[in-house]
Amino acid sequence: MKVNIFKTASEIGEAVARIFVDEVKANPDCVLGLATGATPIPTYECIKKMHKDENISFKGVKTYNLDEYCDLPKSDKNSYYTFMHEQLFNGLDILEENVHFLDGNAVDCDAECKRYDNEINEAGGIDIQLLGIGNNAHIGFNEPAESFTDGSFKVKLTDSTIEANKIYFDENPMPHYALTMGVKQIMAAKKIILIATGPKKAEAIKNMVKGEVTPLVPASVLQEHNDVLIFLDEAAASLLD
Ligand code: GLP
Repeated sequence: MKVNIFKTASEIGEAVARIFVDEVKANPDCVLGLATGATPIPTYECIKKMHKDENISFKGVKTYNLDEYCDLPKSDKNSYYTFMHEQLFNGLDILEENVHFLDGNAVDCDAECKRYDNEINEAGGIDIQLLGIGNNAHIGFNEPAESFTDGSFKVKLTDSTIEANKIYFDENPMPHYALTMGVKQIMAAKKIILIATGPKKAEAIKNMVKGEVTPLVPASVLQEHNDVLIFLDEAAASLLD
């Protein structure tokens, strides 16, 4: 794990966007794993800017998002489908048929998860996976658990995650279930980039970097991947030596 500490979230955004855009330049048909949450927004802003300023086409790029809420219409402003279109895809020339999500409204969630996993395998696997981290060290929606998960699955969100994410839902109740890629599947990405900013992430970051590898700290598994870059601001890094 290589830890990079920056002063501001926008500097992180620029550094991470540069890695993604350089990948697209070198490998126009690459497969990207993408994340939601507030943390990657500066990165997405910079990717859109670099796409325009440097005339880099995303027409051959395929994307797979980490997770999606259950029982929320795709058109809801809080669905990850809508988030990704607003924050990234609408500002790129990426083809709609190349952006992929788990369908949180599927009737048969097991079949939906298998479909998604097969599609990722058929695309050749993920070249670069972007991750944020939950306050409880979850990645995607892999909550602290007794064992590391494998492929995509339906998860019941923890109280901590519901508490952290419900601010986005105004008066509407927040879904308590989601579909998410599993830990082994995330670990199969060739390269992984995790971003964390702000003091609320400091404890999770300390446990991820310095603690033992345990499914109780899902992000700690990243210690076992051979190409992980961590991007932190000073607040998120404050409990590291
Ligand atoms: C959600 C997402 C995660 C994300 C996390 C942190 O739970 N499923 O992928 O990393 O939120 O979000 P934020 O970046 O807003 O702190």
